[in-house]
Amino acid sequence: MPDLLDVSAFTPDLLLEVQDFDYGEEPYQKELAEWMRNEAVPALKRGSKVWLYINQATEIVGYSSLGVTRWRYPGPTSRKTELVIVPAVALRKAFWGKPDGPADERYSSQIMRHLLDEARDWSGELPALGLFVHPDNLAATKLYERFGFRPFFHTYTDPGTKVTYRSYVRPLVRG
Ligand SMILES: CC(C)(COP(=O)(O)OP(=O)(O)OC[C@H]1O[C@@H](n2cnc3c(N)ncnc32)[C@H](O)[C@@H]1OP(=O)(O)O)[C@@H](O)C(=O)NCCC(=O)NCCS
Repeated sequence: MPDLLDVSAFTPDLLLEVQDFDYGEEPYQKELAEWMRNEAVPALKRGSKVWLYINQATEIVGYSSLGVTRWRYPGPTSRKTELVIVPAVALRKAFWGKPDGPADERYSSQIMRHLLDEARDWSGELPALGLFVHPDNLAATKLYERFGFRPFFHTYTDPGTKVTYRSYVRPLVRG
């Protein structure tokens, strides 16, 4: 039997419970802990959604979020249009690659399927789901490619670190 995740909406009163989780030691992984600590509650206030994922042993294994952005889509000369975006998604380090078994039963895959379902159902039938990824984040890149995301021309350069994040998009097919 696959270890199916339960999905629970994140609410501000849960912050104390989840704010010290370990998402890895690399700077781009620590950003995900910072996002939960500093951005999750403001994101909810802006209309984004944030979820926690709970396994059958009742452990919180990670979180994800969805919001809306405006990118030129589908190409660099297109007008700016609203797309669904993943502001942050992370599994606690102890749950990377888990549970053992087929890739499509991993927590990472279950979370991606949940995000794609929620993105398709997002109000306004937006045409695609986009996200940014740090250029060194190979696990995330492989996961997104496994779920049909493809490199997109849009980039974001962090003014503090000067790192340029790549973007990926996946069209949202309905019906
Ligand atoms: C990104 C994340 C959600 C992926 O979850 P995961 O459980 O590690 O995902 P998977 O085990 O399915 O691994 C994804 C793929 O990357 C590969 N992989 C894992 N770690 C890797 C590494 N360090 N280098 C290269 N490939 C790696 C896996 O073998 C797998 O390959 P496959 O698709 O061919 O099977 C998780 O690693 C995480 O939360 N990391 C910290 C926060 C983060 O980076 N969030 C994403 C922000 S954009």
